[in-house]
Amino acid sequence: MVVHEELPVPIFTSLEPVYGSGPQLKEAELRFNRLKSKFVECFGHTPDIYARSPGRVNLIGEHIDYEGYSVLPMAIRQDTIVAIRKCELKEADKGLKIANVNEKYAVCYYPADPDQEIDLKNHRWGHYFICGYKGFYEYARSKGKDVVKPVGLEVAVDGIVPTGSGLSSSAAFVCSSTIAIMAALGTNFPKKDLAQLTCDCERHIGTQSGGMDQAISVMAQSGFATLIDFNPIRGTEVQLPASGTFVIAHSLAESQKAVTAATNYNNRVVECRLASIVLGIKLGMKPEEAITKAKTLSDVEELCTSFASTRGSSDPILAVKEFLKEEPCSAEDVEKITNQKLQAIFANSPTSLDVLRAAKHFKLHQRAAHVYSEAKRVYAFKETVSSKLSCPELEELVKISRDNGALGARLTGAGWGGCAVALVKESYVAQFIGSLKDQYYKSRIDKGVIKKDDVDLYIFASKPSSGSAIIEF
Ligand code: GLA
Repeated sequence: MVVHEELPVPIFTSLEPVYGSGPQLKEAELRFNRLKSKFVECFGHTPDIYARSPGRVNLIGEHIDYEGYSVLPMAIRQDTIVAIRKCELKEADKGLKIANVNEKYAVCYYPADPDQEIDLKNHRWGHYFICGYKGFYEYARSKGKDVVKPVGLEVAVDGIVPTGSGLSSSAAFVCSSTIAIMAALGTNFPKKDLAQLTCDCERHIGTQSGGMDQAISVMAQSGFATLIDFNPIRGTEVQLPASGTFVIAHSLAESQKAVTAATNYNNRVVECRLASIVLGIKLGMKPEEAITKAKTLSDVEELCTSFASTRGSSDPILAVKEFLKEEPCSAEDVEKITNQKLQAIFANSPTSLDVLRAAKHFKLHQRAAHVYSEAKRVYAFKETVSSKLSCPELEELVKISRDNGALGARLTGAGWGGCAVALVKESYVAQFIGSLKDQYYKSRIDKGVIKKDDVDLYIFASKPSSGSAIIEF
């Protein structure tokens, strides 16, 4: 089944199509009312329109989207809602005013100039809105749309995707902001274009993300996980076993992707790029050609598989084993192969230059081996969940699992902290969560790491939720 990525973001006049009719609807009504009150309190009138976009949990395909490989996430019910109103742009006015229902986040003011630089040295929460603002104008201009005159905007935000948890609160915020701006300016773009433009514009914050988070946030369909392909972005709905529910549990180690980009996230992206260039050269490309053409490991996969075929295999990892040393290598080791300084190769990417300054060595073998093997696991997972589940052995396995807990569990998102996701039988969810509370969280509550009353923020069950929406009451 194909997700309708060509369609624009749906516009609803009530909350039920997004939040269903159960307890989630009640919670959403309260949040929309609170957001509206906050808006009136800050700006003296009601908003024109609202947009929402969810966070996500990735089921499989970690750290491969920026290498061009498909991933398989689902949206979670936690989302960000943005209330917005277009207003006159007065001279000497700051133009964009962004408030938050959470008192922790002070009101942010920015000029209405879409070409403004984001001050990365001063990380402010409102920067994510500005990513969306810049992204909207970059896209609109590229399409020659007649909305390019900057306007004043009043904005209020309510986000409940836990931050620093690997559940993509940033994509939920950037996507809902971009869509709110788009709706306030009376236009609507195809979801696949929005997924691409929000991926591109979130990079203004300094992370070289691959696009999974924004794509699932915009395109998700309630009840389905989505296989996402890149270049171009495409979504295919994946039906998960009906009797299973995913439980997402926070390790309580926070991971601030944007703040640690130079040593963590972007470092991996740069290592993958170097691995691609070195593989390209070892497999016959001229150094200059590899530097311009081997941008990702998917660009050199064919060379790797044709090498493997000389050994009677189709596994690109054979080339990785042959040509990339397992020991970490220094910048000088790589430069001997590329005949060019790494600073010159990455001259146009300030965030990569930050990586080079911070890195002591590079793990090329491990990165390439991970990407090629994880890319295969995505399809193996899709096959497994799409195929008939029952057979005598599996029935037995399911029974044992039912008696003992999760059917499977893994970390989700970028890692370095954040959440794990476990597939648990629906009927066992409450008991499973209870056991985790006892065995993982209780000792942390006793030690004062988290408050007892907050534990439900850190462990919760989720079905795949719906994607972005515009709400017009
Ligand atoms: C972050 C990024 C994604 C993806 C994951 C790791 O969430 O934003 O693009 O790379 O990490 O799979």
